[in-house]
Order: sequence, then structure tokens, then C-alpha cells
Amino acid sequence: MQYRTHHCGELRIENVGQEARLSGWVQISREFGGLTFVDLRDRYGITQLVFNQEDDSALCDQARELGREFVIMVDGIVRERSNKNPNRDTGDVEIEVKKLSVLNASKVPPFTIEDESDGGDELRMKYRYLDMRRNPVKDKIIFRNKIAFETRKYLIEKSFTEVETPILIKSTPEGARDFVVPSRMNPGQFYALPQSPQTFKQILMIAGFDRYFQIVKCFRDEDLRADRQPEFTQIDCEMSFVSREDVLQTFEGMTKHLFREVIGQELADFPRMSYDQAMHDYGSDKPDLRFEMKFTHLNDVAKGKGFNVFDQAEAVIGICAKGQAANYSNKDINKLTDWVKRPQIGAKGLVYVKHNLDGTIKSGVGKFYSDEDLKEWLTAAGAEQGDMLLVLSGDQEATAKQLGELRLEMGRRMDLIKAGDFKPLWVLDFPLLEWDEDSGRFHAMHHPFTAPKHEDIERMKSGDHDAMKALRADAYDLVLNGAEIAGGSIRIHDRALQEKNFELLGFTEEEALAQFGFLLGAFEYGAPPHGGIAFGFDRLCAIMSGSTSIRDFIAFPKNNMGRDMMIDAPAGIADEQLVELSLKVTSE
Ligand code: AMO
Repeated sequence: MQYRTHHCGELRIENVGQEARLSGWVQISREFGGLTFVDLRDRYGITQLVFNQEDDSALCDQARELGREFVIMVDGIVRERSNKNPNRDTGDVEIEVKKLSVLNASKVPPFTIEDESDGGDELRMKYRYLDMRRNPVKDKIIFRNKIAFETRKYLIEKSFTEVETPILIKSTPEGARDFVVPSRMNPGQFYALPQSPQTFKQILMIAGFDRYFQIVKCFRDEDLRADRQPEFTQIDCEMSFVSREDVLQTFEGMTKHLFREVIGQELADFPRMSYDQAMHDYGSDKPDLRFEMKFTHLNDVAKGKGFNVFDQAEAVIGICAKGQAANYSNKDINKLTDWVKRPQIGAKGLVYVKHNLDGTIKSGVGKFYSDEDLKEWLTAAGAEQGDMLLVLSGDQEATAKQLGELRLEMGRRMDLIKAGDFKPLWVLDFPLLEWDEDSGRFHAMHHPFTAPKHEDIERMKSGDHDAMKALRADAYDLVLNGAEIAGGSIRIHDRALQEKNFELLGFTEEEALAQFGFLLGAFEYGAPPHGGIAFGFDRLCAIMSGSTSIRDFIAFPKNNMGRDMMIDAPAGIADEQLVELSLKVTSE
């Protein structure tokens, strides 16, 4: 108890009359008559200190010298406050200080350490240690810890073993670029940082661990967004002797456990949807189910009436914006048209049909379609008087994607997304392979270790190009409020099938052996059937606390250029280091 008998969030009315020693940071000090009040803050809360000029003027003078963020220790007596602060746990009491020690001074911080700070993003990242003193940031890091704790509790109770896998590995193709590390002892050779521990967890299954998990850092050199960081954390899991159903049950159970224990929310059983259904109804493989607004496919009723744009389109698809007919003037429609034409969305135009409250029908394409025609569209979309239909057309895939974005935008504009609402969804039966026009070859939609669905194995072996496009994978994603929070699959555990998959993905036999010989070899020593999943841990934390940005849930995040502003990384290295790593011939 050299520094404290209590922390700053601890003292209550029951402690009145007791002696207490507290240590912490000066949040703010203010003078009031002959009294100086100081708010003393630590991780746990804030306690008010009071210095009385009349009792000890020297001590009071010393208190007046204190600046924001000074680190101090005080001894005093707990007193009942005359004007209590009901917004603070310690708001009934204050410490009448008898002794003050300054443990460390502080420069004036570059932004205010308050819940609402005046510091910009970059400045707060540079002084991350100051930013983390603020409640909103600190609380998110503590929240993350609670989720990690409950994750471990759930999984360890279910016989999962946490195993650490290496960080210096050979690249695992997960679709992003690798970060690489030169090897001093092996000139000209590089390690890659893992994009995920995928092959290691499969090896652990072959090693007989049966159930593995790891809360693990993963590294992907990809363009950054609010929900992407170059280094992020997964709850990575693998199980032996399981079917897809076993994996879904286990991790639906884990998600429910986390929601119950951490935020007190009971989640109902998760609905399931095939990838094809999700694309058909929402134009997205991660539909946000917090609101309905499903697609209506209008080809049958909208084509063949002389409107060239629709006649030539592969797909004409609409959504019904309930009750919006009266809210969108011509000017608003023009603005919305501009919105869908932005390069980020990429639509060529927007067609609307309003079913006005007085029963009339209004549309920008009225000259091509009779009211009867348009009524057919409205009926197909389940639109009633007062509703507005928004229609896009063009190539099937692009149009569905664009309309999916418009659906989300309308959901936001119409305020259909309610805070505290959580809508999980399993998306199942993804395609196994994706054809890439640019490179003229197939890519694995999930990763190369994902098994095809049992009924597709024979077709996969046939090697017929068109049949390949139709192959379904035993892969699943967990979507929560329109974000992909987890993805996984049942794996291939047979050498011949894995080799076939590599071949379809354009690997030569030599390439497959060079990169994955260890796994192919391991498959020959009794690989059990296995499957697994990985959660994006940062994303899960953000979504569970109602946020869309993962940055604040990471203690030391990178900015959008992948820079750590506090330590100023990445940075150059000395010539001698470059030479030592064989990245340069001689030092100048
Ligand atoms: P996948 O690539 O789908 O699967 O990743 C799993 C989950 O990780 C999260 N995630 C990210 N979070 C933050 N920043 C990023 N850059 C980022 N990239 C991915 C997502 C995603 O759902 N090895 C497989 C899992 C398996 O098959 O078991 C894998 O890594 O929430």
C-alpha cells in the first residue's frame, strides 16, 4: 500500500470518516472561495479531492500548482459531500486532503482528456497513451478483454486447447498480399507473416489435438477500410471428426454465450440462407437483416415494352421503399440518381415508380409503360399506396451489387437500422471456385483447403470447365448486421482431392509440392475429417458494442496508410542492416 489504499472509483458513503491514500492523474482543478477542488482520475473512476486554505494554506498553494495530468498521491479523510454528484459512483464523497505528493509532472496534453476530446484522429493516434486515458477508448479495450476472456472460457470448457502457431512462416494464400521478413541466416530468402494460421491448425488436427483454438494476430497487406487493419486478430478454431452442422452449432453457441455474458443479450437461433439466396434477395453475401427490403426481380414484367435500357439489360431489379413516395421530390430523386451513379456504386441510372397516396402512379419511364404495366411492377414488389419502387438494370451481377448498396443506403435514410438490434445470419454453400477474367483462371472463393460439398466431389474430379463454376463448397460465413464476422469450412483431408483442387486453381504439380508439400505429405499419415472457422475478433468487438470502426478496439492501431503514428512505423533501416539481410550489396 505504498501508493494507495483505494482506487479512484472505490470510495462510497460507507467509507466516510476513514483515512484513505489515493494515487492518480489530475483531471481538472478549480478554485472556489478558499477551497481548491481536484478531480483525481485512474482507470477505475474519479474521486474529488478538496484542499482547504484555512486548514493548511501551504498545502493549498501546493495544490494550486498542479497541472492537468500531473501524477499525484494524496492522504486524507473521506468526507460526505455537501453537493453530491449523482452521475459519478464516488459522487457522494470527497477526500479532505492532509498530504500531497507529486509523483510526476506532466506537460500540457495536446488535446483534452475528456470523453469528448478536441483532438483530431492523427493527433490522438500519435499520443495514443493519452487517448487511452479517455473513457470511451479505455472502455473499448476493457470490453475487448471481456470478450477474449469469455471466448476462452467457452472454448476451454468445450475441450478446445489453445495452441500458439508461428508468426514467421511461409505464405498461406488467403487472397491478400503477404508481409514478408528477410532471413539473415538464409540470404535472399523470406519468411511471410501469416494471413491466418490455416495450414497449422489443419496440421494440429492431423496431430490429434481434436479441438484447437487461438486468439491470434493475422497480417494482410491489403487496402485499409474502417473494418480492416493490416494486423488484426482472429478467434481461430478447428475441430476433428465434425460435419458442418457440428461447427455451426458450436460457434452459434459461442456467439450466443458472448452476447449473453458480455452485453446481456439473448440471441434467438440464427437463421440460415444459401449464398445463392442471399445474392438473389439482397445482392450481397452478407445481407444486413436488420431490415427487410428484399429485391424484386422485374425481368418478366419490365422487358419487351419498348424501353431500350431495360430490354437490353440482363437484369431489371427493384426494391420497395415503404412510405417514401411523398418524401422524394423530383430534386431528391435526381440526387439519389447521382448517388447511385457515383464511381463507388457505378449504376448508369435509376428508375423510380411512385404509388402516390391518392392512388396515382408516377414514374420517370411513364412514357414507355402504361399505369397497368407499372401496377404489375408494384404488385410484384408488394408496394402499397405511399410506397416508392427504385429500379436498377444492367448486367446481373453488377446490378445486384449496386442495388444491394442502394438498399443499405435507403435503410439508413429511412432510419430502419435501430441501435442495439443484432441480426446474425449463417450464409451457406458458397461457390468453391471463382472465375477471374483478368488472370484467366479460377481462384478459391474461401481458400484452397475448403472441401467441395460431398455431392459435388465427382463433378470436381471430372475437370469440366463449366461444371467447375457450379461447384459448391462446404463453406459458411457468419454475418452480423451486414458484416462478415466469421468464415470457415469443412476441409479437404485427402491428398488426391487436395491435389485436384490445386490443379484447378492453376498450380503446377511442382508448385503445389513446393508450397504445400508438408500438408499433402501429412494427409498421407491418417488425416482425420476436420473443419473449422475463424472470427474477426476486432470486428466482433466493434459490432457487439454498436460501432462500425474496429480501430478503437485495437490498443495500438494503424492509420489508413498502414502507419503506426506513435512509433512512426514503417521506417527505413540502417545500411548495415540491409547488407546483413542481403538486401544490399555493400554499405556506403
Ligand atoms: P477469413 O479470411 O474469412 O478466413 O477471415 C476470417 C475473419 O477475419 C476477419 N478479417 C479481418 N478483420 C480485420 N481486418 C482484416 N484485414 C480482416 N480480414 C479478415 C473477418 C473474417 O470473417 N483461415 C480462414 C478461416 C477458416 O477457414 O477457418 C480465414 O482466415 O471477420
